[in-house]
Amino acid sequence: MAIAARLPPISDGELQKPTSRIHPFDTSNYGKLQLNNGLALTPQMGWNSWNFFACNINETVIKETADALVSSGLADLGYNYVNIDDCWSSLTRNTKGELVPDPKTFPSGIKDLADYVHNKGLKLGIYSDAGVFTCQVRPGSLYHENADADIFASWGVDYLKYDNCYNLGIKPEKRYPPMREALNSSGRTIFYSLCEWGVDNPALWASKVGNSWRTTDDISDSWVSMTTIADLNDKWASYAGPGGWNDPDMLEVGNGGMSYVEYRAHFSIWALMKAPLLIGCDVRNMTSETLEILSNEEVISVNQDPLGVQGRKVSVEGKDGCSQVWAGPLSKNRLVVALWNRCSEAVTITSKLETLGLDATATFSVRNLWKHETLAENVSGTLGAQVDVHDCKMYILSPTCSHAIS
Ligand code: GAL
Repeated sequence: MAIAARLPPISDGELQKPTSRIHPFDTSNYGKLQLNNGLALTPQMGWNSWNFFACNINETVIKETADALVSSGLADLGYNYVNIDDCWSSLTRNTKGELVPDPKTFPSGIKDLADYVHNKGLKLGIYSDAGVFTCQVRPGSLYHENADADIFASWGVDYLKYDNCYNLGIKPEKRYPPMREALNSSGRTIFYSLCEWGVDNPALWASKVGNSWRTTDDISDSWVSMTTIADLNDKWASYAGPGGWNDPDMLEVGNGGMSYVEYRAHFSIWALMKAPLLIGCDVRNMTSETLEILSNEEVISVNQDPLGVQGRKVSVEGKDGCSQVWAGPLSKNRLVVALWNRCSEAVTITSKLETLGLDATATFSVRNLWKHETLAENVSGTLGAQVDVHDCKMYILSPTCSHAIS
């Protein structure tokens, strides 16, 4: 969607006065400050309302989603954030200048919802905007950072997604740190997810500001969108690591616009890229295929590997580079490799182990993460397989003799 469409239709004169304890644009210290909340040692996992529900949310949907995350077993696999996106709030602040949940859709309030979600062993996320309005024209938090962080903390919120609409043309590097400071001093540990759509190359500056940063515009539920976003996010691989992750946007798995193998590829590559694994479908009504993809523990463990290195595209062949190998190092000297067929027919994809940074003389066991089978114990030289159209085969290579990864 065009960024221009999100620019503010209002003038500075309509802004309310800052309610902050410090002026939000006193940036004298920002370069020296860090988020330091101890979170995001591995990419965040959970669910977000936007991709499936957009503005059609209410407290029942959120509660039923929390129930479904638990009953489906997804919560036990690590999907623990239940994140409400845009449209939870009233169109205006109250007379005290506070954000207010929409009384029609969230009549019991956010604190009640947080209590419900916490009682299930899960965490609650909320959404606001580093501008004067959210993208759906609810009140934004620009110049209200401290008051809003304090109210989120008082409700028991655990996660904030912070969007970029109606931003008055002020650079993100100035608008996002004030909320970091406000969250830091709110008295509650709150995950900080920056959503500035990659417009100002956040990978270059956001690791001091947030726990993750969107690197692209919004994903949509299509093969073209998903593959385009994967490539855009790949560029920033070297900037991700424990504490702060590139965010190529939420999962579309289960929303209907891609085939089973395309969703499997989407999930594989997001896991390998150390992307946040935020489910974006209606988990109350998932098919068994959707649940099977989202609950592949072996693929999840790639994403949650403690080494925390973002895997990347390492070689391409074929028409427009459609025959691709993606790979990344894992803990214990292991390597994850994805053979991804983005061509319009089945292809055989091969990669020399040397190209993957492995010692040509070493041998490896090869585990297929979608078949849940160890294929061979002593592979050396080359890894290769036939891959169906748009499918992605995913393996972990573990050394079976020493000094395997150079
Ligand atoms: C967009 C954001 C989406 C969603 C939407 C809500 O800017 O990228 O993920 O949050 O706003 O209006």
